[in-house]
Amino acid sequence: MRLLVLGTGMMAKSQAAGFLAIDGVEVVGAVDTDRTRLHEFADHFNIEKRFSTLDEAIAWGEFDAATNVTPDRIHHATSLALIAAGKHVFCEKPLAENYAHALEMTEAAEAAGVINMVNLTYRNVAPLQRAREMVLAGELGTIRHVEASYLQSWLVSRAWGDWRTESRWLWRLSTGHGSNGVLGDVGIHILDFAAYGAATDINHVFARLKTFNKAPGGQIGEYMLDANDSFTMSVDFANGALGVIHASRWATGHLNELKLRIYGEKGSLEVIHRPDGSDLRGCLGDDIESATWRDIEVPAVPTNYQRFAEAVRSGKQDDPTFRHAANLQKVIDLAIVSEKERREFNLLAADTPESTVGQEPESKGDDQGPALALVV
Ligand SMILES: NC(=O)c1ccc[n+]([C@@H]2O[C@H](COP(=O)([O-])OP(=O)(O)OC[C@H]3O[C@@H](n4cnc5c(N)ncnc54)[C@H](O)[C@@H]3O)[C@@H](O)[C@H]2O)c1
Repeated sequence: MRLLVLGTGMMAKSQAAGFLAIDGVEVVGAVDTDRTRLHEFADHFNIEKRFSTLDEAIAWGEFDAATNVTPDRIHHATSLALIAAGKHVFCEKPLAENYAHALEMTEAAEAAGVINMVNLTYRNVAPLQRAREMVLAGELGTIRHVEASYLQSWLVSRAWGDWRTESRWLWRLSTGHGSNGVLGDVGIHILDFAAYGAATDINHVFARLKTFNKAPGGQIGEYMLDANDSFTMSVDFANGALGVIHASRWATGHLNELKLRIYGEKGSLEVIHRPDGSDLRGCLGDDIESATWRDIEVPAVPTNYQRFAEAVRSGKQDDPTFRHAANLQKVIDLAIVSEKERREFNLLAADTPESTVGQEPESKGDDQGPALALVV
């Protein structure tokens, strides 16, 4: 696969290293509107072809696929241009800033017949994959209840830097600077973690979002600190289970932790992913009488990068697709409306979000700083 890297910031480095470790993958070109970053990146990875705009790269055209590692708001227009040029696209999460854009990208990719995948990173967590297999194999019986959480503490601790003084964190607290808060940032990860692990879809959502006062007047310099810091969701799953999904940046003592608990009639599973590793534990069979939990060994799984490369090679679409990410984006959009209107939404009904969530945030330039998943 001849791969073009679009956007050469923080996440692109991790992506390029991941793709270059795969046999048969060549990074043949790089694009960034920031010349300094472009050359630094291309020098580091020894990439000859360098472009300041995607249009120039498309006019050159000597690549099979592109990985779109631009900021969230850039994904829509650039992915559409790549799809129109017949290129396979691996897009960073979130697919777009709202459901309407995500759906447009999905329909364009499907109509063009190109491979389309979204980098929902926690699919690389082997215990999550094993948990899903066990659910699908019926080892837990009927699933009745699901708990999922994504916990971070960077509003409390300074382990990743100081949000009070650093713009790379401050923009994430401000809707005017393009942030949908913790929901927009890591919501898609934990929604996917829950639904994928429990092998079902979310059908109904009711959400509460909360922004805590963090500075005098709720503002630091040009940053209004109005983006949500914590969210809680109650959801109904398509398999009939009830679930709670929540995330916070105020979770003191948790730098970056995803947790999923799946409770079935015949057994339960717990998946925990932290910066230092992942675990799967189960309470199954006779152990349910004594509530004994045991560690479950899990083999390594291919990464999203490996699966995208294989999909391009074989011409066979793999997960997570644009359509899947668009469906999760709908949950996020509806969660925002749910908070405003204090009502539950049925994802299967016609009441799709009409909000303009994330459509026209003020420009914040390219100074986004490292994204949260940096430490995962
Ligand atoms: N999957 C994960 O776990 C994970 C982790 C971190 C970031 N991300 C996602 O990766 C994406 C990039 O995040 P980042 O932290 O690397 O951001 P970043 O700001 O470090 O890098 C983005 C780069 O894109 C460039 N750019 C902006 N507009 C462009 C355009 N029109 N054409 C070409 N280049 C353009 C910028 O100059 C910048 O160098 C975001 O969507 C983010 O949500 C995902």
